[in-house]
Amino acid sequence: MRLSTIDLLKAAYARHALGAFNVCNLEQVHGLFRGAARARAPIIVQFTRVIRSYAHPLVLEKMLQAAEAIYPEVVFAAHLDHGDEAACGEAIESGHYASVMIDASHLPFEQNVAVTKRVAEKAHAHGLTVEAELGQLKGIEDAMSHEVKEAILTDPAKAEEFVARTGCDSLAVAIGTSHGAYKFSGKQRLHFERLAEIQERLPEFPLVLHGGSAVPQAEIERINAAGGALDASASGVSQSELARAIGLGVTKVNIGTDGRLIWTRVHREFLRDRPKEFDFMAPGKMYMEEYAAFVASKCHALGSAGSAFDALSKAKTETVRSLTR
Ligand code: 13P
Repeated sequence: MRLSTIDLLKAAYARHALGAFNVCNLEQVHGLFRGAARARAPIIVQFTRVIRSYAHPLVLEKMLQAAEAIYPEVVFAAHLDHGDEAACGEAIESGHYASVMIDASHLPFEQNVAVTKRVAEKAHAHGLTVEAELGQLKGIEDAMSHEVKEAILTDPAKAEEFVARTGCDSLAVAIGTSHGAYKFSGKQRLHFERLAEIQERLPEFPLVLHGGSAVPQAEIERINAAGGALDASASGVSQSELARAIGLGVTKVNIGTDGRLIWTRVHREFLRDRPKEFDFMAPGKMYMEEYAAFVASKCHALGSAGSAFDALSKAKTETVRSLTR
């Protein structure tokens, strides 16, 4: 069942974080919904602009409608991840999304405020929730994103001003994570003091952690043992870091890389171990199961497992949106 993103965020705040999973194909959609159903966890399903142009927005929406019918017990919201103003406008008007992220974080502060405010006004007029970003994460999210070489951490005072002036409903903060498999160099980890300062200035306001993948070492090792050549120093956000971040206002955690690493490992091992096979469904089935197990365990790590019913009952009935058309 679809709920509005803001209701899910409000139900989650300070209790747990919502896993926001970037998915792009039918195997991932099945795996995601199976995992959420097993964990009885509310989830955010998110598509980027690149995913929308790869699969076609209509294919994605139809997959979600099918998933909604096949897994009616799963509580979720559909979200546009890393939109520019045009993509946000399209998503808002399509009627298929509960929320959009306007990412104008690469622009100077005043321009970021202006663009975000325009998108927030339009989104709110259509009943959607808006996530914005202040500060910049290192790395690159996808082919349409701006590659960022040096992170710019979010300034807590500016964050307070930004939220007040734009009217956004949640804020992605840069506190040391980055997109992709190579998140941390040396001993540098998350900047919790900064996160605490942001929370102090924005109490009860949902904060979003981009770059939330764990990048498990075992996954990297298995990929490399099956012919991959990933840098063995790749690492991501640990379970204890997630727990600490949730206590400091992080209510949504974005996860894309971990799903791609599992895909790479499953397919590399499958092709290595079965050189005579050329069926895409056999590794596809394996991937669905592996991804489902990953999603369920991630929801446990985020504390959202078991809270789908809770989220449902907390959501105001008038904002329960049935977007199936
Ligand atoms: P990861 O690269 O850590 O999975 O982060 C994904 C993300 O933040 C999408 O917006």
